[in-house]
Parts: sequence; C-alpha cells; structure tokens
Amino acid sequence: MPSAGSIDAPERVDVPVATISTPTRIALFGLGRVGSALARLAAASGHSGPPIQISGALVRTSAGRDRPRSVPTTTDAQSLLDARPEAVVEVLGGLEPARSLVLETLRRGIPIVTANKSLLAAHGEELFETAARSGAPLRYEACVIAGVPFLGTFEQRPFAATVTRVVGILNGTSHFIVSRLEEGAAYTDALSEVQRLGFAEPDASNDVNGTDAAEKLAILFRLFGKLRVAASDIDTAGIEGLTTLDIAQAKIFGGTIKPLAFADWSDPKRTSAFVGPALLQTGHPLGSFGGVTNGICLRRSAGGSLFYSGPGTGPDVTAATLLDDVLEAISSRTPRRVWEPARAVSVRFPGALSWFVRLQSNTRLPEATDVADLLASHGIWSCRVSSTVTRDGLEWRWFRTYPCPADRLSAALAALSAATSCEAWRVPTLEVADAD
Ligand code: HSE
Repeated sequence: MPSAGSIDAPERVDVPVATISTPTRIALFGLGRVGSALARLAAASGHSGPPIQISGALVRTSAGRDRPRSVPTTTDAQSLLDARPEAVVEVLGGLEPARSLVLETLRRGIPIVTANKSLLAAHGEELFETAARSGAPLRYEACVIAGVPFLGTFEQRPFAATVTRVVGILNGTSHFIVSRLEEGAAYTDALSEVQRLGFAEPDASNDVNGTDAAEKLAILFRLFGKLRVAASDIDTAGIEGLTTLDIAQAKIFGGTIKPLAFADWSDPKRTSAFVGPALLQTGHPLGSFGGVTNGICLRRSAGGSLFYSGPGTGPDVTAATLLDDVLEAISSRTPRRVWEPARAVSVRFPGALSWFVRLQSNTRLPEATDVADLLASHGIWSCRVSSTVTRDGLEWRWFRTYPCPADRLSAALAALSAATSCEAWRVPTLEVADAD
C-alpha cells in the first residue's frame, strides 16, 4: 500500500521487442515504372526503412523491359495471394483488373496499398466499404501529391480535418508544361520532355486534359468532405489551348497562369469545383513555384488554413510513399476510422469569379469600346484591357472582367464571336484571399 503523498514506481514489465531482422514480405500487382522503382528501393542497401522482400509481382506478360531481375514474376494473381504476403501494392493503374484484384485482396484480409487514383475516384466507395468489412487496411497516400504525406495524417485526425475548400496544383506534368511555356518553350517540346522524364501518365492526355487532377479532386472530396463526386461531373478544362502569349500577358495583368484544381463545399446548398488553367493573382502561394512541383491550400472551418507543397509525381517519390504506406498498413490491422458512406452530390462551377479573357482574330479585332458595349449588354463588365498584339498573322487582345457567373460570360462571348467573327478563350482568376 503506498503511503500518503508518495508515488509508486511502476512495476517493471518485460515487453517482447519485435525484431526487425525478418523481412516484411510484400507482393506487387504491376511491375512497370513505379513497381520497378519500389522493388529497387526495397532492395537498396542503406534505405531508412526495415527490410522488405518482394515475394513476387503480377505482370501482364512474362516479357518486360527494365524489370528488376531479382523479383519473381507471374501472370497468375491467385498464386501470389495464396502465398499470403503481409501486404500487396497495386500499381497496375486503370480500373480493371485492378478493381477486382484489390477487392479480392481485401476480402482475403490482406492489407493493400495503391497509387491508382483512377481506381479510387471511380470505385472508392466499394473499396473502402470492403476494407471496413474485412478489417484489412487500404492505404492510398500516393494517389494525391505522392511526395507529400498528408492524406493519412488527416484520415486519423478528424479535429484537424475540418477542410471546406481545396485549391491545388495536383498534376505535375501539366504544371511542368505550363512552366516551360512561361520560359518560352513550345508546347510539344515541353510535353516530350516531361514524358521522357517519366512524370506523365502512360497516356499523357489524362494529364494535360485535366482528368488526372479531377480524379485526385474526387478523392479529396471523399476524404475531407465525405462527399461522393464523380470526376467526370467536375467542370474540367485542359491546358492545350494555353499559349506563351497568354502567360506573358497574365504577368502584365499582375498574375500567373497555373493548372488548378478547385473544390468548395462550405455552402451546404452549393458544392462547387473546377479543374483547369486559372490566373492566380501575384502573391498567391500556388504561384510561387514551377516545374513538376505540386501544392495545395486547405481552407478549414476550424484551425486556420494550411498550405503544403512538394513533389507530386515520379517513380522514386511514389515508391517511397507506397513503402511507407505498407509499413503503416501492416502495423495497424484495423481501419483508422470507422467507414462512413460518402454522400453523393452534384457539383457546379463556382458562382461568380472574375475572368481573364483572350480575343483573337485572323482579320481585325473589333474596337475595345465596341467589345465593352456588347459585353455590358449581357451584364459583363471589363475592368482592364490590354493593347492589341499582332503575332503569327493574328490579332490578340486580353481583358479582365469583374466577377460574373460562368454561363453569363459564355453567352456574352458567344454573342461577340457571332457578331464579329473573333474567337474567345478564357480562364477564371483567383485572388490571394482565395488561398485562405
Ligand atoms: N502523371 C501524374 C502527374 C502522376 O503528372 O502528376 C502523379 O499522379
């Protein structure tokens, strides 16, 4: 019995200490660029994690270039699972057979880690529910900004995850291309370069047309908003129409053009989102870096805003995140939080933003005052107009509008094109305050 005022020393308990000499056995679904990078990282001497052994990799065909020879390959997924790996990493990409294989792995109670954002965006509900039922962890940190581990942190920190708005650069390939355009490079050269560097998707059209970023946004909607949004419902524009002249003019207008992903569910009556190039006012945190770097501003209802940036793409970065996910998954056999079904919502373009508009004509552009009058008759007011630039046999002019609904601007520009045969291209603009 302790005497009054004294504190007993705790009784010493001998706790068994796990040894780290036995390698963790994992299997891979896929042995392409990311799978191979993961196998090489696991085999490298001096990496900072515990020993990991790749027990085998599922491949589509037995022949394959640049595969690490130390990894046994098979075209039979069942034999890989029958060998009871401690975890599986899915890096096949695409929807099938990835979906069926991930479900089968979860149903067998084996933890699974994936970098497949298309799969999670399209079938996240089914996969998370299956994981919850089986008790097998499903980790997906590498799906969004692969080199910045933030998804898992928020998944287990509901008091911090009060996010109601996301604004980010979520695709490294399109950011790289836009950054090269800013330096004066040609679009096709920039695209070839980023493909050569291994950052683009196998089909780079998903990078440049915004699909990849829209899928990542759908994952963030589910994680932060508990909302189910189809990536295909998000208003998505690509960077294909962007020119070096637009970027140079954006600078004169006090901003920079970036490939953005935007989502806001702070108003329960209106969930809004878009993906596409946008003009960021100078000083916006997402305007301060280039190349393949990704970044994300998280506005929260409590706790203030957050900003993360870092590498979002590349086989080595993705491989490191996948291996860390494996270690987390096998150290915790239960899902981090109780699974809740996400609520399906429809999304619209944000209400009223101001716009950066380019007019272009292969004859003569109408006078700026005539353009302003026509737009005003549709309730669109321009606040700044550039001088006319002649380049490549075309006349170009840019202007900025006061905030207005997207469909009203579309109607006004369609009327302008019909009346004057000039073409119009526009991107929304975001102010520095939109980052908070
Ligand atoms: N192709 C993607 C990108 C890979 O460029 O961001 C990472 O998701």
